[in-house]
Amino acid sequence: MTVDAKQIEQATLSAIASIRAASSLGELRDAESAATGKQGVLIGFRRELGSLEPEQKRELGALIHTAQEQLTEAVSVCRAGLEAKARAQELEADRLDLSETIDKQVRPALSRGHRHLVSQTRDALEDVFCAMGFSVADGPEVETDWYNFEALNIPPAHPARGMWDTFYLDLGEAETVLLRTHTSPVQIHLMEEAVQANSLPIHAVMPGRCFRRDTPDARHLAAFHQIEGLVVDREITFADLAGTIETFTAAYFGPDIHSRLRPAYFPFTEPSAEYEITCTLCRGAGCRTCSMTGWIELGGCGMIDPAVFEAVGIDSKEWSGFAFGFGIDRCAQMRHQIPDMRALIENDLRFVEQF
Ligand code: DAH
Repeated sequence: MTVDAKQIEQATLSAIASIRAASSLGELRDAESAATGKQGVLIGFRRELGSLEPEQKRELGALIHTAQEQLTEAVSVCRAGLEAKARAQELEADRLDLSETIDKQVRPALSRGHRHLVSQTRDALEDVFCAMGFSVADGPEVETDWYNFEALNIPPAHPARGMWDTFYLDLGEAETVLLRTHTSPVQIHLMEEAVQANSLPIHAVMPGRCFRRDTPDARHLAAFHQIEGLVVDREITFADLAGTIETFTAAYFGPDIHSRLRPAYFPFTEPSAEYEITCTLCRGAGCRTCSMTGWIELGGCGMIDPAVFEAVGIDSKEWSGFAFGFGIDRCAQMRHQIPDMRALIENDLRFVEQF
């Protein structure tokens, strides 16, 4: 039997059908070699051409050539399709589902964190003072000796410097530079600015971070927070100071917590007082946190010393004022009955998450 055009056509169609039917690159390779490979149908036809008349040979030879081209084309179209499909499958398998981590079923309790108790306390204190008519200001944590001490009537070598164990910074400056030991230097900045801008009176509170070379204990941290208060106005008296402290104490700690002012010494105020409140842990009965006294010292206060007014160029015959400064961390401790203040810096989530 010799080859004819119909045979070639049919064989080509069925080879194309099996190429198209291939569902993987492996199957496609098989279908391709069955059609055009060394054992393939086209080779078989070619072999038979030798025994034909030249005319027939040319005609069928051309048909075989066309069939070869069609099959090659079909293979390459199918290969492109299968390769694209394989690549898509690969990509799908490699895909990272980024929504997985927030999928509630995978991680039901994804918590978002919140402001630290000390920050919440600072905000609450600012709110109380704002409601009482104070504005809020801040100042630098790195100070010169002049702002932290001298302008506050604490000259070099004054024995009162012993009240603050200071971190000094060696910046190669001519001036002595230090980490502020209290927020009182912000008073000096505010008064200087007010003199410059001719904008007295001042009614301001100044919260911020302070630093002392203290060994942390139940009531002290080496890096802690204070809020300073400053009023400079005409005819301000100690009664205004005492009334302000009393009003603040009741507003912030509640009516059952009492305040008391005890005579004290601070170089920048005269007279000066220590500001204490009922210990909220023992309600005045005496406990370890208050060293059995029933009272907790929050800070100090007093009438601004004329020497301070003089340092900033305010006429103490025309103006008078009071100032106070107390611990924000201490307020948080008393408001929430925290026996040991070090819990505020340990970042133990079992503590932090309670507030
Ligand atoms: N700066 C003082 C301290 O940290 C506290 C203080 C006392 C502030 C009396 C004042 C004040 O404004 O008048 O120990």
